[in-house]
Amino acid sequence: AEDATGTVEPLIGIIGGSGLYDIDGLEEKEWRTVETPWGAPSDDLLFGRLHGLRCVFLPRHGRGHKISPSGLNYRANIDALKRVGCTDVLSLSAVGSLKEELPPGHFVVIDQFIDRTFAREKSFFGTGCVAHVSVAHPVCSRLGDALEGAARGLGLPVTRGGTYLTMEGPQFSTYAESVLYRSWGCSVIGMTNMPEAKLAREAELCYATVAMVTDYDCWHEGHDAVTVDQVVKVLFGNADNARALVKAVLPVVGQNRGLCSAGCDRALEYSLITAPAA
Ligand code: ADE
Repeated sequence: AEDATGTVEPLIGIIGGSGLYDIDGLEEKEWRTVETPWGAPSDDLLFGRLHGLRCVFLPRHGRGHKISPSGLNYRANIDALKRVGCTDVLSLSAVGSLKEELPPGHFVVIDQFIDRTFAREKSFFGTGCVAHVSVAHPVCSRLGDALEGAARGLGLPVTRGGTYLTMEGPQFSTYAESVLYRSWGCSVIGMTNMPEAKLAREAELCYATVAMVTDYDCWHEGHDAVTVDQVVKVLFGNADNARALVKAVLPVVGQNRGLCSAGCDRALEYSLITAPAA
């Protein structure tokens, strides 16, 4: 939607992870089916307005959490958000902690990723046309600023910056893997943010992740003492905080929306692309 001056009205996409299956307080709610050339996204998309700002929500694993991390159609999810006109994507993801100082309940505004996944389609390019986009800085710093500010404003326990290791799953790590990832300096571990972040960059979407810690993974001595009840309690507490965070951050993200100061919306201009074969 463009206004008379050609300014694009922002449409903020929200990808909700485990424990987050809708956004409360949304007005003019409407679930819509979106089809893509890459197949079906995880679920219908929930359109609505929050504080007058247009947003669209996609439950990453589908409502009822039906799709495993390896089974997700990441290309369809990102393409669906792109083709409905999204400008920005906020990813909310449950993770395990690889650092003592990031306890369950803590939020981390991620700035880097290590991709250890191997059984997923990771690019929109490769058939007919090859493109190499830079993901040196895979997160939109403008969105990161907004998320950090909103989290601090709400008094949530939050850390700015951190490396998210994406593992294939669905099993959790072995102890040796967990210790290895800690030795690499990783902050958190999860199963879904790659290739999501790479595809968002290829689609020239601004993307940022809030990693919500549910557990200490298996490296931590106290791990055995953690019960399922505790993890579920943390997951629901995190989801409540995530909903509050989304409400607080949307007006900020919408307000500042011009050309992305980090260049995410022009990523292909700086990429290496081969012309399609004639
Ligand atoms: N998601 C939540 N906790 C996790 C963990 N410990 N490892 C991988 N993914 C996770």
